[in-house]
Amino acid sequence: MKTIVIIAGGKSPEHDVSVISARNIYTYFDKNKYHVEVLGISKNGEWFHLPSKTLFTENLEIGTSDLHKKICFFPFDAQPLRYVCNTNEFLNVDVFFPITHGVYGEDGFIQGMLEYANKPYVGPGVLGSAIGMDKDVSKQLLQQNNIAVTPWFTYFKGDEIDYISIEKMGFPLFVKPANMGSGVGVEKADSLLDLKKAIENAFKYDIKILIEKGIKGREIETAVLGNLKTDVTGVGEIIVKSGFYTYENKYINGETQVVIPAENLSENTISLIKKTAQKAYKVLQLEGLSRVDFFYVSDTEFYLNEVNTLPGFTNISMYPKLWEQSGLPYQELLSKLVDIAQERFDMRNELKRDL
Ligand SMILES: Nc1ncnc2c1ncn2[C@@H]1O[C@H](COP(=O)(O)OP(=O)(O)O)[C@@H](O)[C@H]1O
Ligand SMILES: [Mg+2]
Repeated sequence: MKTIVIIAGGKSPEHDVSVISARNIYTYFDKNKYHVEVLGISKNGEWFHLPSKTLFTENLEIGTSDLHKKICFFPFDAQPLRYVCNTNEFLNVDVFFPITHGVYGEDGFIQGMLEYANKPYVGPGVLGSAIGMDKDVSKQLLQQNNIAVTPWFTYFKGDEIDYISIEKMGFPLFVKPANMGSGVGVEKADSLLDLKKAIENAFKYDIKILIEKGIKGREIETAVLGNLKTDVTGVGEIIVKSGFYTYENKYINGETQVVIPAENLSENTISLIKKTAQKAYKVLQLEGLSRVDFFYVSDTEFYLNEVNTLPGFTNISMYPKLWEQSGLPYQELLSKLVDIAQERFDMRNELKRDL
């Protein structure tokens, strides 16, 4: 029986969403095949070993229960995650399953640490995770490979902003931190005044921001799975009742609806979107899994908006729902993700690169 260790929570604003994803993953793992343990990272970055039942308490925040046992790190040991403080307890890990959405967890930070742990883990490696998180680097790579992205400008903190060129793109504009998720720090600007405020706000979250042309289109998403060879689902649609896809609309006030499969799209377009997603996956060095999000305007005009390398696994999340619709139920999807993590690990281990 393999031991799977889920890693949940973390320092990003998506801490609570991560815990909800982890609850689902914990629940759905086939307990006849796997023993499942949970590690949690608190909002200030401390690590804990969680008895599974504490995952299901009302309070979603890691590290707030006496039952959460603090972990002591030995960061230069090849097995850095194994000691629970003040005990001799350690975890025997076969495969890690980080579901730490957003910064510090989806951007290569945790992935780098898991490389040192020398264990397989679900999701892309360090490079794919870092590229996937950075909207500016992603867009540059996609554009270079002839995948349409929304026109944009990138600015670093302190750069002089060329408002004349930006305004030429026309309002509305979207301003966003280069590295964030769940709509945090994303603002729509309908005027120069809005734009200036949005820029100031986005710089609270990152030292690099994007200013994008606003696209009036449908939000279409697809799910990719695999390493060098990939599978892709059909497409789903996010319908936002008012405004755009913000954190509040997504998780708090239920202002969004997930439609699978997306309606009124031609077979040809669906096939093109799926192929584009698989190509993007390769271009962006992704492995394991990713959700690939598009703005669809017409059959001849659609843009890849962004990729999510550790997408949501909540009850309302698109990624597992798309697989379910494609004939891979949640539980089987989890087993497949574990196998894919193992496959990548084995592939790398065969390389002659250790002294
Ligand atoms: N260029 C754009 N045009 C229209 N809507 C946008 C644009 N960029 C972002 N949005 C809206 O903002 C939401 C969040 O932006 P996104 O780039 O997906 O960031 P995040 O990583 O936070 O999900 C999108 O789902 C969409 O509703
Ligand atoms: Mg998004």
